[in-house]
Amino acid sequence: MRLDFENSLISEEEIRDFDKKIIKAHSELHNDTTNINDFKGWVELEFDSAEIERIKTIADRIKSNSEILVVVGIGGSYLGARAVIEALSNNFEKSNVLYAGNNMNPDYMNDLLDYLNDKNFSINVISKSGTTTEPAIAFELLKELLIKKYGEEEAASRIYVTTDKEKGVLRKEANEKGYETFVIPDNIGGRYSVLTPVGLLPIAAAGIDIDRIISGAKAAMERYANVEDNECYKYAILRNILYKKGKKIEILASYEPKLQYFMEWWKQLFGESEGKDNKGIFPVSVGYTTDLHSLGQYVQEGERHLFETVIDIENPYRDIEFTIDENSHLNYLNGKTLNFANHSAMQGTITAHVEGGVPNIVIRVEKLDEYSIGELIYFFEKACAISGYLLKVNPFNQPGVEFYKKEMFRLLGKK
Ligand code: PA5
Repeated sequence: MRLDFENSLISEEEIRDFDKKIIKAHSELHNDTTNINDFKGWVELEFDSAEIERIKTIADRIKSNSEILVVVGIGGSYLGARAVIEALSNNFEKSNVLYAGNNMNPDYMNDLLDYLNDKNFSINVISKSGTTTEPAIAFELLKELLIKKYGEEEAASRIYVTTDKEKGVLRKEANEKGYETFVIPDNIGGRYSVLTPVGLLPIAAAGIDIDRIISGAKAAMERYANVEDNECYKYAILRNILYKKGKKIEILASYEPKLQYFMEWWKQLFGESEGKDNKGIFPVSVGYTTDLHSLGQYVQEGERHLFETVIDIENPYRDIEFTIDENSHLNYLNGKTLNFANHSAMQGTITAHVEGGVPNIVIRVEKLDEYSIGELIYFFEKACAISGYLLKVNPFNQPGVEFYKKEMFRLLGKK
């Protein structure tokens, strides 16, 4: 993985001006990472090998007795798993992992219940607080179907709970009913939790090698452990300089459709971490080249409050070489490959957007696989935390999320 920056807006001197601030942000992040009130447990996360083995064993059990695993969760309790599973799965083969509790739409839920009716399935309900309304409702409805299909006892053996080690209604119910449980560590918040059982169990149940993801994350942990030559910190610095220059919107762009949910995960990570105290870059995402034919016009010539970060996956698993009839209007492609065409579109777009006043940061990844996904996850988590400190916000809380809940509960008549 490496970082390139194409612009005329930022000088090396401006980046060097951050030297002191970055040392401060670094020590703030690395200082006392085990303190449960600071939510920094992911920074130097130690992977417990016995727990990883248990995750793999349970994932095997789920694969052997269930056609479908329904992951019930919202926000940080589901986006990481979905990001990784979709990034590493075939574009068209149906996944054995489905998602619920990330919306309250009746048609979605009815369609899911109908779909599951004649299938063997299990549930992994994930909620750190154990009280979030969307997953709580979805869990109730899915549990009812599970009990109807299998009876109380077998249903209980098909429910896997990932929650706090002692607090919350979910923990209480799991203890009473004897569900298999996994713990979300106290000092890791939802959106930083994909490398804990929150993400690892569903990812393993989807048949993905979690050891390789962990290896990638550990490599990134080491690579970005110090202040010097730290591209992760450079990304955080660039974002902050651009923000101060009026670039209030960051577009994460990718030419790899499988990264759609990875970009959703990234949006939550940065949006919820930085958007507070009336500050913060607004994170959005685009899938190119598709969106070049919808939002491309705005990016090129609309208001100049944008910068782009492109995730470039350099090599596909399988390329296609063109053999085209000499008389065809596409004959200039003869002997070239589809990946070359995709990358020409990418390079052309970067040049055009930079010329149009949209600075581009490019994160180059050799290949999209378990290892690089592990690296990318850690890279963005750390960049986000450092970026938040540079912006002088707390990147680990989300007080604003409570406001809609208060109003919703009033309307629902919750005491
Ligand atoms: O990042 C976060 O902390 C949030 O997005 C939470 O993950 C989300 O609100 C779900 O919370 P919980 O896991 O408590 O149900």
